[in-house]
Amino acid sequence: MGGFAIKGGKCLNGEIEVSGSKNSVLPILSATVLLKGINVIKNCPEISDVLETLEILKTLGCNVEFSNGIAIIDSTNISNNKIESEFSEKMRSSIMFMGALLGRLNEAITGYPGGCEIGERPIDFHLKAFTKMGVEFEEFGGYIKAVRNKSKFAEINLDFPSVGATENIMILASVSEFDTIIYNSAKEPEIIDLQNFLNKAGAKIKGAGSDIIYIKGVKKLNPIEYTVLSDRIEAGTFMCAVAATGGKVFVKNAIGDDMRQTILRLSEIGCLIKEYNSGIFIQRKDLIRPINIIRTEPYPGFPTDMQAQIMSVLTLAQGTSIIIETVFESRFKHILELCKMGADISYDGRTAVVKGVKNLKGTFVNCKELRGGAALIIAGLVAYGETFIDNSIYIKRGYSNIEDKIKGIGGDISYKE
Ligand code: UD1
Repeated sequence: MGGFAIKGGKCLNGEIEVSGSKNSVLPILSATVLLKGINVIKNCPEISDVLETLEILKTLGCNVEFSNGIAIIDSTNISNNKIESEFSEKMRSSIMFMGALLGRLNEAITGYPGGCEIGERPIDFHLKAFTKMGVEFEEFGGYIKAVRNKSKFAEINLDFPSVGATENIMILASVSEFDTIIYNSAKEPEIIDLQNFLNKAGAKIKGAGSDIIYIKGVKKLNPIEYTVLSDRIEAGTFMCAVAATGGKVFVKNAIGDDMRQTILRLSEIGCLIKEYNSGIFIQRKDLIRPINIIRTEPYPGFPTDMQAQIMSVLTLAQGTSIIIETVFESRFKHILELCKMGADISYDGRTAVVKGVKNLKGTFVNCKELRGGAALIIAGLVAYGETFIDNSIYIKRGYSNIEDKIKGIGGDISYKE
């Protein structure tokens, strides 16, 4: 399998541009099924998850064009209501098509969703919520058939502020005869982006960004042009790379308000950070300071999607840091690989103890999932010698053209098939 080859030890300097948000664009693309007609979605990151989602849209009967970050999706004719498992198994977000197809056709058949192996990742919140909204389910041969015979008013109290469940409910509830209220909803910026997108198409949703979302069902949504929010996790990854290697970088399109916890933690580590309307400047000023405890939490807490990357930085701190992963139960697969590079990390269950070492050394490592893979890139950029990250295909699921972007700020990285 292909991998990134990195010659480490260079400071990063210059300007790097952040693409559209992976976690925003995937539900938005799925929801175009509801917006009958020609939709123009701008600032789509050129990542494999987007390409897979566009493939799914084609199998449903949409006409799709994609170039230069602009996806044109004509959803006038939806001729199929089934997401084959060969597609659903590749991506967790494929489950979002269940809400979209139910909203459009009142019926959907989907294979079980896959995605990165970072925990069990069940879909019980989605199914429980849809049941309250009047949907009935049947399971057969690895597929779930969902039918909405009649909509219902629903008050949904999520057991956990699940991002995917909140989005799926918003998508289905936007086209309904009745209203829906979501309590304990996820508050991530991508939820606000989805609300903005759906409302622009004629939905009546308010409250995204808070823990109660009110959705007044409407009869239909109209096709629109929409620009996707920029990716706070990609921005945070670049900032961690600079925190690890040193240097001065302007991260264009990064939005400070969406990534406050990452900014605060990187400042605590010893970085100078300045926020502008067009992006964020970062410079590592001092030796890397350890962080007593970082606990991942739903937004606005420290994002689980940044846990691996900040851990890479802390492997080189002047002391010991503790990282607690509360969102996913097995999101520490990068630890073994970082240790192969000379890091001193031990963990038990959801708690990792990271003792800072003087330096990392390049070696052959294995990428197990998307953000863990990004953490290995950061480690490779700061390590002495050469690192080869096997199985880097996972990284391409969420980072658009990452090798060229990092080369542009002085990193020595290339992709080898
Ligand atoms: C989304 C993001 C992912 C991010 C995660 C948490 C996308 C495409 N992916 O994933 O990058 O890491 O949010 O910020 O947006 N859970 C259940 N039952 C359910 C649904 C979730 O128990 O029905 C649990 C999960 O196993 C997990 C927790 O809830 O422990 C959070 O999951 P959730 O917020 O749903 O994450 P995703 O939407 O899968």
